[in-house]
Amino acid sequence: MLYITSMPAAFAFSLGELNPDSVPGPCIPKEVALRACVGYNWQHISTCGRRDEREWNVPVVVTGIGYIGSELVRLLLAEGEEVIAIDNFFSTNAADTRSLRRQPGVRFIRGDVANPKVLEAALSGPVHTVYSLAAQPSAHPKAASVAYMERSNLVAPRVLLDAMAARDVRRLVFASSLRVCGEDLPALVTEAAPYGPFRDISHLSKCYTEKLMEMYAATSSVSCAAVRLGVTYGVSPVMKDDYRFVTVPNKFCLQALRGEAIRVYPGGHMPIGLIHVADAAAALRAAVAATGSGGFTILNAATEACSVRQIAALVAGAARRRGRQAVVSDESVGGEREVRIASRLGEYGFAARHTLASGVEEMLDYWEAKCESS
Ligand SMILES: NC(=O)c1ccc[n+]([C@@H]2O[C@H](COP(=O)([O-])OP(=O)(O)OC[C@H]3O[C@@H](n4cnc5c(N)ncnc54)[C@H](O)[C@@H]3O)[C@@H](O)[C@H]2O)c1
Repeated sequence: MLYITSMPAAFAFSLGELNPDSVPGPCIPKEVALRACVGYNWQHISTCGRRDEREWNVPVVVTGIGYIGSELVRLLLAEGEEVIAIDNFFSTNAADTRSLRRQPGVRFIRGDVANPKVLEAALSGPVHTVYSLAAQPSAHPKAASVAYMERSNLVAPRVLLDAMAARDVRRLVFASSLRVCGEDLPALVTEAAPYGPFRDISHLSKCYTEKLMEMYAATSSVSCAAVRLGVTYGVSPVMKDDYRFVTVPNKFCLQALRGEAIRVYPGGHMPIGLIHVADAAAALRAAVAATGSGGFTILNAATEACSVRQIAALVAGAARRRGRQAVVSDESVGGEREVRIASRLGEYGFAARHTLASGVEEMLDYWEAKCESS
């Protein structure tokens, strides 16, 4: 049996050492409580007669507080978590994260996640979950050197897993990508879909990290979940306008508002998985529950699928309704194909709240307001 209370952790901190036995709450069945963990802080949970001290007032670590990581931090803080955040500002402007870093409940460490000393500082006290998002995420040829990519995307995950195993930090949630299944997705993409062919090291590196997590889950006490995110869109606390680090739907919105042609490359007829940034953060959060039973789990997190060509048409249509002259330059040749993306995330309480169509309107609103204010 487990107790669950909804007292926010921030309040718990203000009380200092909170004794779980002093918090009244109904006893509810274990399986119901475990499912409820998705929406609750682990430190709100105590076992009747047996409690895990490590879960009380224990922070989480988020590496990479860029586009998705900043939204995840916002979600975690709203749930009452205390967050230790790490970033080296490789692809994010430090100034854009200032207000997030100053939030009560955030401790920020500036540094490279491939540096064991940085992780030592983050994991020096108890930590109940690490969310790993720091990476060189872009397939753009001018995004970074190969050496930097290898350090951030290959060395860093191994250094992180070593540090977690050494310090008995038991839950790792990793921001993987649906692109591990290749560019040409099968008609039904399940979590068991095989790895596909690659054209860039950034996406290839996700396969290595998934297998690394599988290995550490089998040989250490770290439980791992790889969340295979679709291409992410929508407004987050850290928005980018450098095309090297902007995803396709976001870039098309910017191009439409800047009066630039929306360019669809030759492979633009192929379907891609998509997810709103708030849903991506919720999916990463929900994935913690999948680490509860140990081992290694893969979870798909893409709530829609359509081609880049269709995204271009959607953005152009929305921009034209706002009186913009949106032009699409379409170099794609193939026909459309339907793809369905299955996900086990629903088993852990995840439900999508956004659609690409509403996300496009939200982004156009955001960038229009930004242009007007500058
Ligand atoms: N955006 C997407 O569509 C998408 C889709 C699938 C997977 N992902 C993955 O999700 C994660 C987050 O993506 P994002 O879009 O928020 O990217 P982002 O570039 O906005 O965020 C990554 C953050 O990590 C930081 N970083 C990079 N290397 C680092 C290092 N060595 N040490 C410390 N910090 C470092 C960057 O400065 C940046 O703030 C990435 O791992 C990415 O591959 C993103």
